Amino acid sequence: MAAKPLLDSPEAKAAEKDEVKGYFETTGFERWNRIYSESNEVNKVQRNIRIGHQKTVDNVLAWLQEQGNLAERSFCDAGCGVGSLAIPLAQLGAGSIAASDLSEAMVTEARRRADEAGISREQLQFSASDLESLDGRYDTVICLDVFIHYPQAPAEEMVRHLAGMAEQHLIVSFAPYTPLLALLKGIGQLFPGPSKTTRAYTLREAGIVAAAAEAGFRPARRSLNQAPFYFSRLLAFERG
Ligand SMILES: C[S@@+](CC[C@H](N)C(=O)[O-])C[C@H]1O[C@@H](n2cnc3c(N)ncnc32)[C@H](O)[C@@H]1O
Repeated sequence: MAAKPLLDSPEAKAAEKDEVKGYFETTGFERWNRIYSESNEVNKVQRNIRIGHQKTVDNVLAWLQEQGNLAERSFCDAGCGVGSLAIPLAQLGAGSIAASDLSEAMVTEARRRADEAGISREQLQFSASDLESLDGRYDTVICLDVFIHYPQAPAEEMVRHLAGMAEQHLIVSFAPYTPLLALLKGIGQLFPGPSKTTRAYTLREAGIVAAAAEAGFRPARRSLNQAPFYFSRLLAFERG
């Protein structure tokens, strides 16, 4: 029998996740905490990523408000970072939000920001967890800009996993594969690129949509949020 390619082996996947975690506990935390803030200590590229990412967050918040009934709904923000989505969602009156991230540093900062904003720990609960360990059932599951760390097949598997936790809505964003982006990536200019120390993956939208369909979800809303160094496809799915 042919040996598995090294990158697909469970050991390689675990090593890559350890690398991502290590990055987001240290230099990655410092970098992304600055990007996801109002700090002036950002360079042009980082400021640009901040602007693009804010468009994604604003889109999600607008769609959720259009759907209505926020106060009666439960949310899961998977890979929440420093709470850029969860905190304003709580401020808009979401019923309950379970927000989690692989990085304890990110979660600690998110909790600090939520406390500072006066949000109750009952309404918004943070925990440190990787996506794979998440379970429970929520009206809406959201996962923004995390799939940059997932190759196509594991990302599709993760879409099915997150869809299995969602009663009504699933919202995901990811860096879409396009020939132009493949070229840019090739010359080392990738947008919401976490850093040169972790690998960044672009994903084929058709595969993500097919994975959601397998789990009983159909696409309902779609947008592309971009700034010169940020390029993120946002998809909202509904059950049915
Ligand atoms: C670019 S940030 C996006 C954060 C947040 N979703 C947002 O949009 O503000 C990516 C986040 O994904 C987290 N992450 C990466 N791999 C993860 C995994 N396997 N499970 C959970 N979180 C993960 C990182 O720690 C980081 O906080």
